[in-house]
Amino acid sequence: MGPIGNRIAWLQGPGANCNDLGPAGPRPWHLVLLGPPGVGKGTQAERIVREFGACQLSTGDLFRSAARDTGGRAPSAAMAMALAAMKRGELVSDGTVVELVRERAQCLACRYGFLLDGFPRTIDQAQALDGILVQVNRHLDAAINFFAPEALIVERLSGRRLCKQCRLSYHIVNQPPRLPGRCDVCGGELIQREDDQPEAIRIRLRAYTATCDPVLAYYRRQGLLREIDASGNPEAVFAHTREVMQSLGVLA
Ligand code: AP5
Repeated sequence: MGPIGNRIAWLQGPGANCNDLGPAGPRPWHLVLLGPPGVGKGTQAERIVREFGACQLSTGDLFRSAARDTGGRAPSAAMAMALAAMKRGELVSDGTVVELVRERAQCLACRYGFLLDGFPRTIDQAQALDGILVQVNRHLDAAINFFAPEALIVERLSGRRLCKQCRLSYHIVNQPPRLPGRCDVCGGELIQREDDQPEAIRIRLRAYTATCDPVLAYYRRQGLLREIDASGNPEAVFAHTREVMQSLGVLA
C-alpha cells in the first residue's frame, strides 16, 4: 500500500496543509477518471488509493465537504453557486470549478501523485487542467474512462447510501452494510445523497451526455485515453483497472 493523501489541502483550500505522510513512492502517478455519474468512479478511486497510494481529488467531494462544513462561515460566492447547482443535479459552471481547482494547484503538484475524480467534465475544463499542470510541471499518465449501460447506472445511483460521518459509500443491494442503515466502519447513519433522487439523476445523466464526447476525443487524440467496461462487480472492474495501471507502467 502506498501513502494515502489525507486531502486536507484539497478539501479546505489555499492555506491548508496536509499531514506529512513520509516518503513518496518511486514514481508518483497522475490519472484522470472519467465516466457518467454512478458508473463507479468513486468506488474504483477508493480501491486504487487504498492499494497503490496517492490522493483522490474529487470535485464532488470538495463541494459536499463545503456543504457540510464551512467552519461557521458563509461559503464564498463561487462555492454557494456550486452548491446550488449540485443540489439541482446540474453541472457547476466551468469558470467556478476551474477557479476552485486552480486555488488547489498545490494538490496537483503533490509528491504522492493524484487521481482526479469528477474533473475535468468539459473540454474547457480539460484545457484548463492542462494549463495548470504545465504551471506545476506535471503531466497526465492517462485518462481512464469507465462505461456501463444507463439502466445499470440508474440502479447503482438509486441504491447508493453514504455514511453521514465518514462518507464511506454503500449500495443497498450490491454492497450492503452488515447492519441495515449503519456504517460498518464507524457505525454512522447511512443517508442518501440529495442528488441521488430520481429527477436529479436524470438531469445529471443528461448533463454528462451533453459534455462527455469532446472530453473523450481530447484525451484520445493525445493517446492518453483508456476504456474500462464497468458493468461487472467492483472486484471485477478493479481487476481491469489494475491491468490498465500496470500497462501504463505507473506501478512500482
Ligand atoms: P460527483 O460526486 O463527482 O458525482 P458524479 O460524477 O455524479 O459521480 P458519483 O459520485 O455520483 O458516481 P461514481 O461514478 O463515483 O459512482 P460510485 O462509485 O459512488 O459530483 C457531484 C456533482 O458535483 C455533479 O453532479 C455536479 O453537479 C458537481 N460537479 C462535480 N465535479 C464537477 C465538475 N468538474 N464540473 C461541474 N460540476 C461538477 O458508485 C455508485 C453506486 O454504485 C454506489 O452505491 C456503489 O456502491 C455502487 N457501485 C459502484 N461500482 C459498482 C459495481 N462495479 N457493481 C455494483 N455496484 C457498484
